[in-house]
Amino acid sequence: MSGKKRKTEIIRAIKGIGGIENWALSPPRKGGTCGLVPTLGALHEGHLALIRTARRENDRVVVSVFVNPPQFRKKQFRDYPRDLKGDIEKASSAGADAVFAPKDDDMYPPGFDARIVLPSFFSELKSQKFEWHYRAVLTVVMKLFMLVRPHNAYFGQKDPHQLVLIEKMVNDFNVPVKIRQCPTVREKSGLARSSRNALLTDGEKKAATVIYKALKAGRAEILKKGAGHAPKAVAMTKKMISSQPLARIEHVEIVDAQTLKPLSKNSRRALIFAAVWIGGKRLTDNIRFNLS
Ligand code: PAJ
Repeated sequence: MSGKKRKTEIIRAIKGIGGIENWALSPPRKGGTCGLVPTLGALHEGHLALIRTARRENDRVVVSVFVNPPQFRKKQFRDYPRDLKGDIEKASSAGADAVFAPKDDDMYPPGFDARIVLPSFFSELKSQKFEWHYRAVLTVVMKLFMLVRPHNAYFGQKDPHQLVLIEKMVNDFNVPVKIRQCPTVREKSGLARSSRNALLTDGEKKAATVIYKALKAGRAEILKKGAGHAPKAVAMTKKMISSQPLARIEHVEIVDAQTLKPLSKNSRRALIFAAVWIGGKRLTDNIRFNLS
């Protein structure tokens, strides 16, 4: 049905007729599966690929559009691109049966105070300083799971830390949902699709293409010389990114794709990850690859 015009329900409330709780419980449910695609909105091809996959694999598909305040710094939250009308159209043509776009006060009513705490392995990761951010992501994702009760939930490999944390939460709490991973969708230039790309000037967007090129060079170095050369490959990747005057490196690392910890003898798959600031916007990208 992807690509065809469909009647997509717009759900703005949690409770009552027309609220997400009712939608989740209402038929057709017998034997049918529900797929959830959580997003912050400003939908692009990366999101649409998740929605299309969910459409193929489920009887009902709901896309959530919610710019989750606690996962942002104030300025980032204010500047985040918003286009609910456009999002509904795009989600609909990619196959969504419903778009759930709750209001901030509905998701976080006065007195809301519970939080999901991060697993301890996370603080051991060298790269991660944004614990508050990931706590807020896990908390909202858990809340969405409870509201929608999906059988399957779709997340992008574009955000590997988020993905690993969500998988761990689902496993540790026995949440009855299957996490489905989808590969990163890129522009022709190689730049990973991101809602933040809309905030880049043409010059910044061109400059940002250095990230994927540098990640590929880092991967090539490891494939040629072996996992023992990870520090050299990281240094090479950083050097290439720094050659772009508009880019400021926050972090580059090569880790085990499963654990996000440094590569070990047992590592089968690696992930090279970069977080780079361009024109005041934080862009991230990564590539996964097999270690021979
Ligand atoms: P957002 O950045 O809108 O991303 C929603 C989903 O789309 C995430 O699973 C993300 O990994 C995936 N995605 C983003 N860009 C992609 C690309 N280029 N290719 C493939 N998938 C891509 O991630 C969030 O929102 C939020 O943290 C959320 C999980 C919704 C919680 O608020």
